[in-house]
Amino acid sequence: MNVQIKQDYHLNNDYTDSFSSDILKGLSAHPKKLSSKYFYDKTGDRLFQQIMAMPEYYLTDCELDIFQNKTEELAKAISHINESFDLIELGAGDAMKSSYLLKNLVDKGTDFTYMPIDISGNILSVLQENLNKKLPELKIVPLEGEYFDMLDKATALSKRKKVVLFLGGNIGNMENEEARHFCSEVKRKLNPGDLFLVGFDLKKNPKTILAAYNDPAGITASFNLNLLTRINRELNADFKLENFQHYQNYDPISGACRSFLVSLCDQEVHVGSRLFHFKRDEWIDMEISQKFSEQDIKKLAVDAGFHILVEIRDAKSWFVDSVWMV
Ligand code: AVJ
Repeated sequence: MNVQIKQDYHLNNDYTDSFSSDILKGLSAHPKKLSSKYFYDKTGDRLFQQIMAMPEYYLTDCELDIFQNKTEELAKAISHINESFDLIELGAGDAMKSSYLLKNLVDKGTDFTYMPIDISGNILSVLQENLNKKLPELKIVPLEGEYFDMLDKATALSKRKKVVLFLGGNIGNMENEEARHFCSEVKRKLNPGDLFLVGFDLKKNPKTILAAYNDPAGITASFNLNLLTRINRELNADFKLENFQHYQNYDPISGACRSFLVSLCDQEVHVGSRLFHFKRDEWIDMEISQKFSEQDIKKLAVDAGFHILVEIRDAKSWFVDSVWMV
């Protein structure tokens, strides 16, 4: 039986309010900042699918290589659990990568429920449709909302051991301090013996990294600019997209790959009843995609109270899925 618990956050004022207050707060800050977690409306989902299909965007291919070709290693790491469990995936998206692991577990007759969490209700319906077709016997409980809210919900629903997946290098969208806090919070919500499997994009040739976020076709630029379109639509704003330009930067020392939208002129933008001034060349800090060294990962795991069980890399050694135990 497929249980379906779905919260429509578009009808829920908490979510609308936090979108509005986060955006207003970010535009009032110095420097101005918008959160990349709001990139994923329907158009944003589609643009991200296009990004994943670009030849320069290697992250998805690398992690897909791991999930397709090292499925048995992943399953073996999870078998440390040794009993029935719930498999919670943070930021599941369309579950394209995890579906290989899910199939492996289902084929082995493993007793588990899959709980995909995503901020996009749109992508969760795509996920459900795909998985119902591919793995009709899989038990799915989709949860729409923010990571922590839904992780609380998932841990409240789950009476079993837990395996939490956090793939795709999504952890890279957090500043270092946020990532540390995030891992400690996940640890706090888990019990001894539970697992946390995290995908990290590794530091590598800076040109390779920059190219993945600075595509000549401008899909990544559209992905950033789409948040302004979303703000125009949902918060009654009047951003003129042609007055902003995407700028991408990678710093090999810190491992931070950052995107900005640069104002091309002095301008004023209304957001509802609020007015914001932009100077020419002033930028909005849009997204960080942090890259990690082996030591960075180890420190993050240990500081949060996990130990590393096993690390599984793609054939190029550009990406790693690191399996941690509480
Ligand atoms: C979905 C967070 C993994 O940071 O690499 C892709 C999002 N941004 N291109 C990333 C993204 C620009 C992506 N993650």
